[in-house]
Amino acid sequence: MVLTYFKRFRMELSLTAALAEPRLPLGYRFVAWDTSLLAVHAETKYHSFRTEIDANVFPCLGDADGCYRLMKEIVRKEGFLPAATWLVAYEVGNRQWDYCGTVQGIRDRSGYGAVQNLGITPEHRGRGLGSCLLMQAMCGFRRVGLSRAFLEVTAQNEGAIRLYRRLGFRKSRTVFKAVEVAYS
Ligand SMILES: CC(C)(COP(=O)(O)OP(=O)(O)OC[C@H]1O[C@@H](n2cnc3c(N)ncnc32)[C@H](O)[C@@H]1OP(=O)(O)O)[C@@H](O)C(=O)NCCC(=O)NCCS
Repeated sequence: MVLTYFKRFRMELSLTAALAEPRLPLGYRFVAWDTSLLAVHAETKYHSFRTEIDANVFPCLGDADGCYRLMKEIVRKEGFLPAATWLVAYEVGNRQWDYCGTVQGIRDRSGYGAVQNLGITPEHRGRGLGSCLLMQAMCGFRRVGLSRAFLEVTAQNEGAIRLYRRLGFRKSRTVFKAVEVAYS
């Protein structure tokens, strides 16, 4: 095994200014958190992350069971916030829904809203869903009285960084995540 270091940015957003209510494209809707949706969040997370850079940084994201365990951990946390935890669903037929986006929110110990794993499945990207879902989570942080939010993003994930910058997030710190990688 060799130790590899992934460069990541912490990015922050002030929630004190007015936030625009996100508007999803036609055919899509937000689905609020409910405990019965834990497996749906896990599956949507898996489909969003399994072939992406973050599946190397956090190997559990590249594995269906790993995503399920991660979801269970997130929901058990003391600061878990249902108000900032959402799915996006797309209507594929009469009352049939394809879940295509997931995000979870936590209140951390310093009172920040912490974004967990924003993900949109590959077939639904580039339509503004990631931006809408992140703003939906920000509105949830605001509703429970939080005034700042943060997330961490891998430096190589340029598309995600562009999205965060466009929505007003700014880099506040660089961190390095050590990961053990099998030697080949
Ligand atoms: C990062 C991620 C969530 C973005 O989701 P998305 O739904 O594609 O995001 P958006 O559609 O809001 O924005 C992406 C691009 O589509 C463009 N876009 C937004 N609305 C659009 C619309 N209505 N029509 C066409 N394009 C649009 C945006 O301008 C943006 O372009 P850019 O890449 O040049 O900045 C998604 O790529 C993903 O899940 N990646 C894998 C998991 C991951 O890395 N998550 C981040 C962890 S930190």
